[in-house]
Amino acid sequence: MSQAVPSVSRHPRADTGDSPAPSAPLIEIRGVSAGYENTRNKTRLIALRDVFLDVYRGEFVAIVGPSGCGKTTLINMIAGFIKPLEGTIRVDGKIVDGPGADRAMVFQDYAVLPWRNVYRNVMFALENRHPRPPRAEAKKRISRALELVGLTGFEKSYPYELSGGMRQRVGIARALVSEPEILLMDEPFGAVDAMTREAMQAEFEKIIAETGQTVFFITHSIDEALTLADRVVMVSNRPGRVKEIIDVDLPRSRFDEEVRRSDRFGELRQHIWSQLQAEALGAKSGEDK
Ligand SMILES: Nc1ncnc2c1ncn2[C@@H]1O[C@H](COP(=O)(O)OP(=O)(O)O)[C@@H](O)[C@H]1O
Ligand SMILES: [Mg+2]
Repeated sequence: MSQAVPSVSRHPRADTGDSPAPSAPLIEIRGVSAGYENTRNKTRLIALRDVFLDVYRGEFVAIVGPSGCGKTTLINMIAGFIKPLEGTIRVDGKIVDGPGADRAMVFQDYAVLPWRNVYRNVMFALENRHPRPPRAEAKKRISRALELVGLTGFEKSYPYELSGGMRQRVGIARALVSEPEILLMDEPFGAVDAMTREAMQAEFEKIIAETGQTVFFITHSIDEALTLADRVVMVSNRPGRVKEIIDVDLPRSRFDEEVRRSDRFGELRQHIWSQLQAEALGAKSGEDK
């Protein structure tokens, strides 16, 4: 099928004229490579090679790509948990050299502390802050974060008393409470069931519309990417590179049945699917690059 190919985008806001002066990207990834040393047999696995990507303030960018292509490695570098072998990552113009209050991560596997109740799990994110917000302020922010994710009334519950979806909301509330400029999300809804997943996507879309945060979102679901993102970045097989970036030129809300069933939705889905399929086949026949 050779439909009109989706609008391939490189510099989304720079030339569209929807802001008077093109602003600098909030996240700039320039020529980044990453790898892991195996000290036992002295080999190095290259996970990512020569990655370039700009993310603008307020954008929702979804990352899709084959398993093992380096998506988690990339998000961990933006978070400042690991360092690139080559190249630079800047956030708001400054080179990332460790975690910071401007970024917060939501993990796939909830990462809640089982011995703490919901309130104290969310509070955790404020405990290592310098300066630490005063008690009254912290309380206000925690209540607000719990309200955003729909967990008001569950402050005293422990993780074992919650469903998977609710545990993940605790993780999201914990990311929101520090009011980071950037939310980093690594397959955040990957571990919840399909119904819950869709409900959480819808809630999350509302939260982001309210907070205006910039979101860097890894998913293995093409539909999830198309439902939530302004742009979708496709990553090639390992060593991962940016294979293609598309603008998701669909109206919101994309939970609307009409949008979901539109030809354009189908076309974009098909396009991304075939690009990823090509990567999967490439991996099988050993054409790694
Ligand atoms: N801590 C680590 N030590 C060694 N190899 C790793 C480590 N983390 C990831 N890798 C390897 O790096 C590659 C990319 O991994 P990852 O970034 O997790 O990919 P993805 O998230 O796209 O599935 C994979 O081959 C993986 O096995
Ligand atoms: Mg991963």
